[in-house]
Amino acid sequence: MKMPIEAPKAQLPELGALPMDVVMNFAVHKYWGVSDPVRFKALLDEACSLVTSGHFLGDNLFTWGRNNSLFEDKPFVQAWQSNLQNDADQAIAWRRYILACAAFHCAQLEGDFAECGVYTGSGIKTVMDYMGGTAFSKTFWGYDTFDYNPVAGHKFAGQEEGLFDKVQERFASYPQVKLIKGLIPDSFALGCPEKLAYLHIDLNNVEGEIAALEVLFDKVVPGGMVILDDYEWAGIYRPQKAAEDPWFYARGYRVFPLPTGQGFVIKR
Ligand SMILES: C[S@@+](CC[C@H](N)C(=O)[O-])C[C@H]1O[C@@H](n2cnc3c(N)ncnc32)[C@H](O)[C@@H]1O
Repeated sequence: MKMPIEAPKAQLPELGALPMDVVMNFAVHKYWGVSDPVRFKALLDEACSLVTSGHFLGDNLFTWGRNNSLFEDKPFVQAWQSNLQNDADQAIAWRRYILACAAFHCAQLEGDFAECGVYTGSGIKTVMDYMGGTAFSKTFWGYDTFDYNPVAGHKFAGQEEGLFDKVQERFASYPQVKLIKGLIPDSFALGCPEKLAYLHIDLNNVEGEIAALEVLFDKVVPGGMVILDDYEWAGIYRPQKAAEDPWFYARGYRVFPLPTGQGFVIKR
């Protein structure tokens, strides 16, 4: 008798016991679009003292009376803390946890992982370290120009000649990470997955993001997830929503706007 062949099970991080008497608070004073940061901090510090426990403050998000689940997930806390490179990385903890939870789901699907817009690789590495680090079994593609930023006015610290080498060095013990240096979408010709389970797009500009979707969305398998880092941010990022809404509508999708500022789509 032939036995059915079982798909290999992904290694999944476990949640520990949930304490019922303690809820974490979190506050990192890193936000954008504030005219008087000193006064704002004083007001927000006072606001934190007036609300019930379970507050989260940072990354333009202030909420309270929440479980703050990200801080209850010890493998996530370990992965996030060990990949902090600046205060923005601290503040965007909840955004990172959205990626981690998507990875937990997508690791159990057919297809690779990809991130468009890698910078120093903290997004990729946090997700991989949560999912088992060097033992993570999926190929993870990372696309960026690395040594310069093609988006006017968006150059990040250290984005100069040599950054690509440093990011490669950071992933030296992760052979499943394939970093592709070049301008999206032309760089997809240098290497591109056949199927994707997880797609994180974080380019800070509308042309690049739509170009990436044009090539990669059809490769996302049913049940696969797409996270758009800037979708729900207004101001200079609003053109992304303006273009992505009709792009997804034409394909029968509505983007979930997350309070973290991200957009989220599950592929059928
Ligand atoms: C916000 S950063 C990515 C941050 C990263 N996802 C993380 O979580 O740490 C945006 C990156 O997109 C890259 N980028 C923007 N447009 C691009 C394009 N058309 N092709 C390749 N890279 C691009 C920039 O060089 C920059 O490093």
